[in-house]
Amino acid sequence: MAAAALGQIWARKLLPVSWLLCGPRRYASSNFKAADLQLEITREPHEKPDPSKPLAFGKNFTDHMLMVEWTEKKGWGQPRIQPFQNLMLHPACSGLHYSLLFEGMKAFKGSDQQVRLFRPWLNMDRMLRSALRLCLPSFDKVELLECIRRLVEVDKDWVPDDTNASLYVRPVIIGNEPSLGVARSSQALLFVILCPVGPYFPGDAVDPVSLLADPTFIRAWVGGVGDYKVGGNYGPTVLVQEEAKKRGCEQVLWLYGPDHQLTEVGTMNIFIYWTYEDGVLELVTPSLDGIILPGVVRQSLLDLARTWGEFRVVERKITMKELLRALDEGRVREVFGSGTACQVCPVHRIVYQGKHLHIPTMENGPELIHRFLKELRAIQYGTGTHEWMLPV
Ligand SMILES: Cc1ncc(COP(=O)(O)O)c(C=O)c1O
Repeated sequence: MAAAALGQIWARKLLPVSWLLCGPRRYASSNFKAADLQLEITREPHEKPDPSKPLAFGKNFTDHMLMVEWTEKKGWGQPRIQPFQNLMLHPACSGLHYSLLFEGMKAFKGSDQQVRLFRPWLNMDRMLRSALRLCLPSFDKVELLECIRRLVEVDKDWVPDDTNASLYVRPVIIGNEPSLGVARSSQALLFVILCPVGPYFPGDAVDPVSLLADPTFIRAWVGGVGDYKVGGNYGPTVLVQEEAKKRGCEQVLWLYGPDHQLTEVGTMNIFIYWTYEDGVLELVTPSLDGIILPGVVRQSLLDLARTWGEFRVVERKITMKELLRALDEGRVREVFGSGTACQVCPVHRIVYQGKHLHIPTMENGPELIHRFLKELRAIQYGTGTHEWMLPV
């Protein structure tokens, strides 16, 4: 459909009478509302990526973005879906220095061509927690989600029609006060951008990764902000990721504390499927004790495994000593990471204190990983709407 025609439909659907009467400058509220969305359809749609070529993560953006401005004096402005564009920021704006949070979730196109978002409510919960932790403005999660849903609807032709690909949704809030002092920002910008993304694992194979576990690098600590999705947690990890590459590993296994607790893998949560010391088969992941990001896929794997009820599912501390002993005694079945990008990612090697530990994940099927991937895929690309999916 021509952009202009689509624009008219959306204008009828979205432009509220109140905005037409009052004009955007008069609009201000302690919460913005999806019913007040303004829509400006692009006059210059971008070319969509060639579906036959691999899609690099986070490099292609859709035609539109969501933008909402906030000031301490006026509250939230009117939410806008507008053509994708650069931001104009004051060089002193706090978001460029220290005040930034983000989220990451995905929309999938089912074989019935219906686009659905995967458990976006959990991302909204996490985003609001992050906003409050950074003293950025609170917002109504239901209204933001409805604005995001409409943004995805506007750009739904960008959701790849491929059961290996999806549309990545990146909401962001930044402090926008043009001043250098480290203080509560009196201005903020909330925006959401969208990227079509290809499969993490090309084909049906799931490729395992190797991990560098070096306790001299610490991602997060008790009393810190590792359990929030704030920008400051990520910049310092790039150097460690490069160090892992130099030492022949693909990702970092983040250890913590004198007992070398396993906490996360790169930007994924970690799981071990093993026979524990008491002889019971279990799936374990570290508990949410303040240093672990509460991952949406982490929660989903726990929920699925608990529904199956076939083995013990537990959230508790895991140490390298326990893992070494279990490897020695042949009790480890699978080790894997979980996250929105890959869903589930097997681990086959850990480099720790000069030793190369072989993890027998791939020799064991990996049965559990394949089962999780199959179940998640059935939910995400399925046609009947599962309660975890929000139709767009
Ligand atoms: C540090 C960290 N851990 C875990 C995850 C996995 O979270 P999710 O399953 O919500 O993608 C992410 C990604 O957001 C992350 O950045």
